[in-house]
Amino acid sequence: MATILAEPWLLEECRRRYGDVFSLKAWPPFENFTVVADPDVVKRVFTASPAQLYGGLGNRILEPVVGSNSILILDEDRHLRERRLMLPSFHGDVVRNYGRLVEEEVERELPRWPGDGPFAIKPAMSRISLRVILRAVFGVEEARRLGRLEELYTEVLNTVGLPLMVPALRRDLGGRSPWARFKKALAASDEILYDEIARRREAADTSRTDILSLLLQARYDDDAGGGMTDHELRDELATVLLAGHETTALSLSWTFERLSRTPRVLARLQEEVASGDDEDYLDCVVKEGLRARTPLSYAMRSVMQPIEVGGYEVPAGATIGVSIRLMHQRPDLYPNPAAFWPERFADKRTETYTWVPFGGGVRRCIGLQFAIYEMRVVLRTVLRHRRLLPTLDPPERMRRNGVTFTPSRGAVVRLATLDAPAPARPGAAAQKPVAAAS
Ligand code: HEM
Repeated sequence: MATILAEPWLLEECRRRYGDVFSLKAWPPFENFTVVADPDVVKRVFTASPAQLYGGLGNRILEPVVGSNSILILDEDRHLRERRLMLPSFHGDVVRNYGRLVEEEVERELPRWPGDGPFAIKPAMSRISLRVILRAVFGVEEARRLGRLEELYTEVLNTVGLPLMVPALRRDLGGRSPWARFKKALAASDEILYDEIARRREAADTSRTDILSLLLQARYDDDAGGGMTDHELRDELATVLLAGHETTALSLSWTFERLSRTPRVLARLQEEVASGDDEDYLDCVVKEGLRARTPLSYAMRSVMQPIEVGGYEVPAGATIGVSIRLMHQRPDLYPNPAAFWPERFADKRTETYTWVPFGGGVRRCIGLQFAIYEMRVVLRTVLRHRRLLPTLDPPERMRRNGVTFTPSRGAVVRLATLDAPAPARPGAAAQKPVAAAS
């Protein structure tokens, strides 16, 4: 029986046999799961009314972490109200303020990486993206003072996965179970969040540009015109910390993995970065990275009122999953889809209903500009300091981890110093990966 957590090869086989719309059997609450991977159908799903298809209901599983006021789990009017309030704090102009802090976090990591020996870059990308989001949320100075949050959130994320998926595992067992450790870390981080919110309210500094300060100043556009309560703020901060880093870390890791297996692209990118004129190509590389290896398998919607998609009537109670992977592997949209070819995005805007790593419609990721900008700065900063070496190793498998796709070996790369001689041929010095210092 195929399930909602089907592996990429199985999804591709189903599409080959059954077409661009098919159903998978799964367990509650996904007994009836319809996969879609056709641009017209995707448009229909992303533009359906917020009352017909819910984007938040399926995320309620995350409520123990993000709380009941999170944009991720709200639907209909409350969701839209929250979204309108939050969007300006993630706008491209705001995001560009964070460039220097992203560079600093990469520069802080670089000395910990092994000389030119192979190592898995994924853990390093996770550390960078968590610190970046913490500093963007709280501001540079405060993040230093709030360093403990980094440890606590790492503990939250390490312990919560399984108990969220399997509620029966939500047991304390004398304080030693993952659930108990999760609750302890979450309570400690909440204390810090509430304390920080109180300090900021008191200081009432309107000149700051960190996300917390922007959210504190934001006002709902309804009649009351008030701002967020402390509880709402806490939930949205937890949401941004949760949603804003692992996806970015995975996208970056995959992009390094793809680059090291595509010497022509790597050489061009390295050259453009060295020349300081990398804007356009870097942008194409990031978009192609997100196309070729999307970190999330689906954008999901819960069907609240029956909807016709691709000639099928999908009943209320069913779930629709836009398969990001299948959309990005369509040869009619992306000729030679298996190739890593950033030039396909040159002189071309990404299309709303065909390039969907960030989902779409009124649920489209609010961190899109943040993530793309962060990816560009991380790639550029790494390549300014190190030379990524090409490899003849086979591609890493897309390992499914819940709803994300992780590189099976953690994206093993080799990075030489810029003055080191280039290897005789790609992969010439293949060795066993070593761990980066922690
Ligand atoms: C490469 C990195 C990222 C990817 C691939 C990604 C992908 C996604 C996807 C697929 C969705 C669901 C969209 C839908 O259902 O249509 C989503 C939602 C969301 N993302 Fe991201 N995301 C990334 C980074 C970020 C960052 C950096 C932030 C915050 C700073 C963020 C915050 C959110 C939030 C708050 C939502 C919920 C939006 C809503 O329900 O209205 N994400 N993201």
